Amino acid sequence: MNFRLNNCKHALIIGAGHGIGLGIVQILLENYSGISIKATYRRKDHALDLLDLKKQFPKRLEVIELNPTKEEQINAFAQEHTDSSFDLIINSVGLLHTKKISPEKGLREFDPDTFLELIRVNAMVTPLLAKYLERNLSDSPGLFATVSAKVGSIEDNKIGGWYSYRASKAALNMLIKIIAIEFERKRKKCLVLAIHPGTTRTELSEPFIDRTSYIIHETHETASNILNIINNRELSETGKFLSWDGGEIPW
Ligand SMILES: NC(=O)c1ccc[n+]([C@@H]2O[C@H](COP(=O)([O-])OP(=O)(O)OC[C@H]3O[C@@H](n4cnc5c(N)ncnc54)[C@H](OP(=O)(O)O)[C@@H]3O)[C@@H](O)[C@H]2O)c1
Repeated sequence: MNFRLNNCKHALIIGAGHGIGLGIVQILLENYSGISIKATYRRKDHALDLLDLKKQFPKRLEVIELNPTKEEQINAFAQEHTDSSFDLIINSVGLLHTKKISPEKGLREFDPDTFLELIRVNAMVTPLLAKYLERNLSDSPGLFATVSAKVGSIEDNKIGGWYSYRASKAALNMLIKIIAIEFERKRKKCLVLAIHPGTTRTELSEPFIDRTSYIIHETHETASNILNIINNRELSETGKFLSWDGGEIPW
């Protein structure tokens, strides 16, 4: 049994105010006319392009303000949408830096508050979404995916640094694996995946992008890549960590 975008009717994209999440909403609206979308943002002043899209697609797009790190807000959202059954849920929330936070080059920069904040935003949101939205998943083959990062792969880590971001993404990957096992045990027809989006020009990557040796993608390319690799996937592939090019990444 396969997950097929063409069979989807209701999508939920968390963290769609800008960046990769917004790109996914745009591609779904442009290329999959059968899908209606609920898209969440946290900061309105960073979600202006999403709010503009709502004007272009008033019937297919619903835009919702939600802070995904607040359990009560996710619970309230799930309760308000008991009539929606989502075939596709993607969490694109992530934090690497703020005015006060920069990825650590070495142990001297390791800071408990930064570590806990990155765990809160990067790792904690996905299990909260799974906890409250499990009952909102449709009975037809569906997808519950989180945008992770290859730097969270323990096996792939050859250069070190970025303690908190790497550790929070490694924790996220483990959480995805556990959710996949629980959903499978409950015989949910749902593919659970961690996805590395590839280096993409966004607010998150902006301070580092000039130094990268990787191919740089724009958000619409990354969104297309993500939708291409999830489309037509067999449900038996649940619990995998996939790269934007379709390859599998070691945990
Ligand atoms: N860009 C890349 O090269 C790259 C590479 C590997 C992995 N990723 C991953 O891709 C995902 C999407 O990131 P992006 O590149 O699209 O970056 P982005 O444009 O900065 O988007 C980040 C998202 O996370 C939300 N967010 C940030 N801080 C938050 C907080 N404290 N509480 C709640 N939500 C918060 C943002 O919402 P608000 O602004 O509304 O708060 C936004 O929706 C992340 O998981 C990131 O780790 C990106």
